[in-house]
Parts: sequence; structure tokens; C-alpha cells
Amino acid sequence: MSGFPKTSAPSSWIGRSLDELDTPTLLLDRRACQANLQKMAAFFQNRPTQLRPHFKNHKSVTLARHQLEAGACVGMTCAKLSEAEVLGAAGFEDLLIANQVVGAPKIERLVRLAEKTDVKVAVDDLETTRAMAEAAAAAGVTIGVVVEVDIGMGSCGVDPGETTLRLVESIAELPGLRFDGIQAFEGHLVYSNDRRERSERARQDMRLAVETRSLLERHGIPVRILTGGSSATYDATGTLEGVDEIQAGSYATMDWRYAELVPEFAIALSVLARVISRRGDRAVLDVGLKGAGCEFGPPRILEAPHAKIPHFLSEEHCVIENAPGWRIGQVVRLLPSHACTTCNLYRHFVVHEEDEVVDVWPIEASGKLT
Ligand SMILES: Cc1ncc(COP(=O)(O)O)c(C=O)c1O
Repeated sequence: MSGFPKTSAPSSWIGRSLDELDTPTLLLDRRACQANLQKMAAFFQNRPTQLRPHFKNHKSVTLARHQLEAGACVGMTCAKLSEAEVLGAAGFEDLLIANQVVGAPKIERLVRLAEKTDVKVAVDDLETTRAMAEAAAAAGVTIGVVVEVDIGMGSCGVDPGETTLRLVESIAELPGLRFDGIQAFEGHLVYSNDRRERSERARQDMRLAVETRSLLERHGIPVRILTGGSSATYDATGTLEGVDEIQAGSYATMDWRYAELVPEFAIALSVLARVISRRGDRAVLDVGLKGAGCEFGPPRILEAPHAKIPHFLSEEHCVIENAPGWRIGQVVRLLPSHACTTCNLYRHFVVHEEDEVVDVWPIEASGKLT
């Protein structure tokens, strides 16, 4: 088949100013992003706890490389096996899939990945883990496992304490696996607005995982890593004795919702949109739900913080009220409420400094769901 048009490669946009670009386009402010990476790395420099940045935030191999280069990182975290496959193919060596990998098709892929790279995966069920062990042993590979402990989120994971101990003891018997430790994510607290309360509760709940770690160690089971945490709790969970890794993701790009939680990091991500229609003080932009993650509310407009988005976005449009003087054709920058789902909608970051495009980074794992 030769008839399909090629996707226009925006690398030809380097050197242009933002108002010359086609829209909607995902923008990344290079200086803001770099400052975020450096700030987080500086926090973890010379601490026993290190970073394992979460790839799910941006899904870009180039940005992941910059995170490792910034330092204080032990490897990358992934939400999906397909994300780990992308990083594995790009030569990344220490990968954690902080999620359950279930079903024969996935286990087969996991084994293939483990042939090339050191991959660890979260588990919370003996039968699934046994299937993984049998496949790994048959292929002659080793898969690292961390047992996911539910410390209050009420999603995946097993209860802390004795329940975890029993699962770990059963897993230790299985061939083809290496027990690496525990994963615990305090996701139920991430969006708690009061920082002091968020930090105290994060430490309190994470102590359940630390105590579980001690229980395992008292039973003679070495726990190499306790991994968890987030961009919203990095300074609380990341300074708790017994926690080895912080899986921070959003700090790299940020979004307006996260900026309310950890304002020390800058919003580097925006969506360039164009005014395509207007009437009175009302303007319509050429981006909607298919171009901006809105789980935590409608986007904000960088150039017009007081402009109102009166109702939720439609698929392709965003209506702005209180936009006097806006011209059809002019561009504005939308700040999404959720960076991770926004990045997943685009194939490239158009990287800029001030008003000039300086680079284009592919988002290789965009749309990867399996
Ligand atoms: C398992 C896991 N770890 C860590 C995080 C933290 O990511 P962020 O820093 O973007 O909140 C998440 C977010 O959903 C997660 O699911």
C-alpha cells in the first residue's frame, strides 16, 4: 500500500515562532521542564531514597533520557507493559511495570521483554504470578517481582502485614522469578489540597508498607526495594526511612491541577490552539476533549487567566467567554488539568523556548494501552 499520506513531520517547524504553527499542537517549554527535572533530582541527590520517574506522564523516550541524565534515578517506572516495551527497545535497562500484568498474551510479551532488559513487575495474586513463573522458567529468563501492597487506595494490591508475608513466601518458591520487594502507592492522597495533611497522611499510610517490609525481613526475606510515591508526596514519602524509590511522574511536565499541589514545579506543558470563530466576547478554539485531558476540570488559558470556559469541552471545540478583542486566527496556549492523559493524545512534543520552536521530541508510547 503506498497511497497513505505521510504524517507531516513537524521537525521542519524548528526555528519558527509559535503563531506560525498548525494547531492544535502539544508544546513543551524546555527551560521549565529542565528546571523541573533538575529540582527533583537535586532533592534526591545524596539521599538514600532515589527517583524512578514514571514514564506514563509524558511517554517520550527523549524526555525519559533527560530525566535519567538529571541524576538521582535508579531506572524508569511504567504503567503498561507496552510502555516498558518502548523503553526496552530504546535501550533502557532497569524498568518497573508498576501494575498487574495479567493474561497469556501479556505474559508472553513480558517474557520476551525480560530476555532483553531487567524488568520488574507488580503482582498481587499467586495464580497470576505462578503463570508468569512457569513462562519465565520455560524461556530461561528471570522476571523481577514486587508485591503490591494496598495502603489505602482500594485498587490493586494485597493487605499489608501477614497477607503480604504469606504471598511473598509462596512466590519465593517459584522458579523464573526474583523477589525484589514491595510496591505501595498512596494515590488516595495525591489530590489532597492541604499539603501538611497530605504529607502527614502519606507518611502514616506508607508506614504500613515500611512495617510490612520489616516483617518480611524479620522472617529472613531480603527486601531489596520498597517503591512508591508521587510528585505530590515526594518530599514526605521520599524522606521516610525504609522507602527506596519514588515513582514521581507529573513533576516533569506539570499541569494546572498539579501546580496547585506542588507549586515549586513549573507548568511546562501547554496546548497551542487557534481561535476559529467568534461572536461578541465569545471565542471558539480548535481543540476539545480529543486534544486536552480534562479529568480535573477544563483547561485554563495562559494568556488570559480570567477568561471563562462556561461549559465542558466538546470533542473538537472549546468555547471561551470573556475574550474581548480576540481575533479569528490568533493562537493561545491552553493549560490542561491533566498532563498524563493530554500527552497520550499527541505524537510529538514541540519544544520551545519563549516564542521559538527549538526541538521536536517524539512521544513514542502515545496511545499505548496494552
Ligand atoms: C503506581 C503509580 N506510581 C506513581 C504515580 C505517581 O505519578 P504522579 O507523580 O504523576 O502523581 C502514579 C500515578 O498515577 C501511579 O499510578
